[in-house]
Amino acid sequence: MTAFTDEQNRVWSTLYERQLPRIEKYACQEYLEGFHTLGLPADRIPEIDFLNQAITPRTGWCTERTEVRYTDAVPWYNCFARKTFLVTDYMRTWDELDFTPEPDMFHDIFGHLPFMVLPRYTELQEMFAPAFLRAGPEERERIKRLAWYSTEFGLIRERGELRLFGAGLMSSAGEIEHVMAGHVPLEPFSVENVIRNEKSIWNFNNVLFFFDSLEAVKQELGAYFDTH
Ligand SMILES: [Fe+2]
Repeated sequence: MTAFTDEQNRVWSTLYERQLPRIEKYACQEYLEGFHTLGLPADRIPEIDFLNQAITPRTGWCTERTEVRYTDAVPWYNCFARKTFLVTDYMRTWDELDFTPEPDMFHDIFGHLPFMVLPRYTELQEMFAPAFLRAGPEERERIKRLAWYSTEFGLIRERGELRLFGAGLMSSAGEIEHVMAGHVPLEPFSVENVIRNEKSIWNFNNVLFFFDSLEAVKQELGAYFDTH
């Protein structure tokens, strides 16, 4: 078990407190439902056992800690194929509260894990790894873009209003405000639209994509993965 410092727990609780009103205002219904089920602590970084007690009985997924900082997608997809979600040991520093180019544990836990208690969401997550692991290098890049613009940075239309869907948005105060202020062109999510756009790792995204429902994005991706 990794012990975290008081400083890291303070970064967590500061981020949690800042993001809570934003997600309550802007997050999609799936995220909010998962967030309430998962019940993340506000004042400290949660233990892996605590997370898995909520996640594994509901979806069969589990989380594992890793000391490896994200540079290469392959080990991550290998874990996804085993329904294992890696949570990095790295926590952002005070000067990166609003935006970090590197996924940290706040992103991994607060951004992704609320979704991972919902079987209708893990069905989406489970589509990527088999397609990625059998693909060649060019196709892998396309699959990474499809994941980026859906599970990391997608938006979803609910009752005529756009809500946040992507985990990268949930964990970034800066990018949430940037997107919700209307500074980013939004286009309908289709495989054809998305794969033309590189991932924007070092800056806010220049374009983002929205879908009409979780079912709609699963259908769009499923039809593509079935034929590639
Ligand atoms: Fe992520």
